[in-house]
Amino acid sequence: MRIDGVPTRTIRPAADGRTVEIIDQTRLPHALVWDRLTSLEEAAVAIQQMKVRGAPLIGAAAAYGVALALAADASDSRIEMAYGRLLATRPTAVNLRWALDEMRRALLPLPPGERAAAAWRRAGEICDEDVALNSAIGDHGLAILRALWEKRHAAGAERLNVLTHCNAGWLATVDWGTATAAVYKAHDSGMPIHVWVDETRPRNQGASLTARELGWHGVPHTVIVDNAGGHLMQRGQVDMCIVGTDRTTAAGDVANKIGTYLKALAARDNGIPFYVALPGPSIDWTGSDGLRDIPIEERSAAEVTHISGLAADGRPAKILLTPEGSGAANPAFDVTPARLVTGLITERGVCPASREGLLSLYPERRTRAAQ
Ligand code: MRU
Repeated sequence: MRIDGVPTRTIRPAADGRTVEIIDQTRLPHALVWDRLTSLEEAAVAIQQMKVRGAPLIGAAAAYGVALALAADASDSRIEMAYGRLLATRPTAVNLRWALDEMRRALLPLPPGERAAAAWRRAGEICDEDVALNSAIGDHGLAILRALWEKRHAAGAERLNVLTHCNAGWLATVDWGTATAAVYKAHDSGMPIHVWVDETRPRNQGASLTARELGWHGVPHTVIVDNAGGHLMQRGQVDMCIVGTDRTTAAGDVANKIGTYLKALAARDNGIPFYVALPGPSIDWTGSDGLRDIPIEERSAAEVTHISGLAADGRPAKILLTPEGSGAANPAFDVTPARLVTGLITERGVCPASREGLLSLYPERRTRAAQ
């Protein structure tokens, strides 16, 4: 994506060749601040504190975390230690494990003296691959948006209304985003597309991140409270929902930001297509059961009891919302059962949210899935 006309990725190796630059997403939307990661620990903390977040970007940051870890010691035990430290940062996004496995696979067979350079190379490739995957997802998603727009336009509509939840955008990936890739391509092609942006309590990734990046790109959008989506659907003001995922099981169950499930229910009740955009590394092929086995991250109650923003004096502030002493629970993700998902938009095409659907796009998994 471009910021002020400059093509920009969310993560990049610094010019010194030894450190990594990230956009500190905890400072958005009000300040665009680049942070520098210089060590494994800084990478792990950046993921934990959600300076970088979004499943694909978590994977990319972890890959660079391994590269940072090997600066002084590239032994097998150091790789394993980095793997464990980074894997423990966030439990739900399966891209994290995928990226760490990729790094381990690339590095362990090499002599220690070659590992540090190879780690930087592989981390860079993972980033490049993410960009390509998301762009391809965007092409397949665009075909769906076009078909829908042709129908709506023929029926007299003046714009296509898409609803999205959380931030499955450029900021959640290295570039393009998953759910937003098709939106950007549609907008760039001249389609009058408008996005309803769920604010996505409690961390407000929609209000602060999706709105920010759609605004940077000039895509018309409106932020809504999470509970408004069902009402807008009933009024015929949503043509399609498109969201991302942190982990989709081989059977097509979709873990994504808390509240996604409720949007899928409302979409089904109103006959509105509900699509999930995902790259291959977001698929959990282990055979886990979506409702029972996916680890759902429990985050701090303070994210619910307090809200962050800019105070009247323009400084970042945290405001207490709840009575002192009220407890708060903060499950960060939920699982939308495959039956509520109209289709999965992947880099290889669109398929039904089912084991057969996914295997039709990833046939190389057929034998492994059967084992
Ligand atoms: O807790 P977050 O902000 O990391 O959660 C992000 C999401 O739930 C996104 O929708 C998901 O990672 C898909 S990103 C392309």
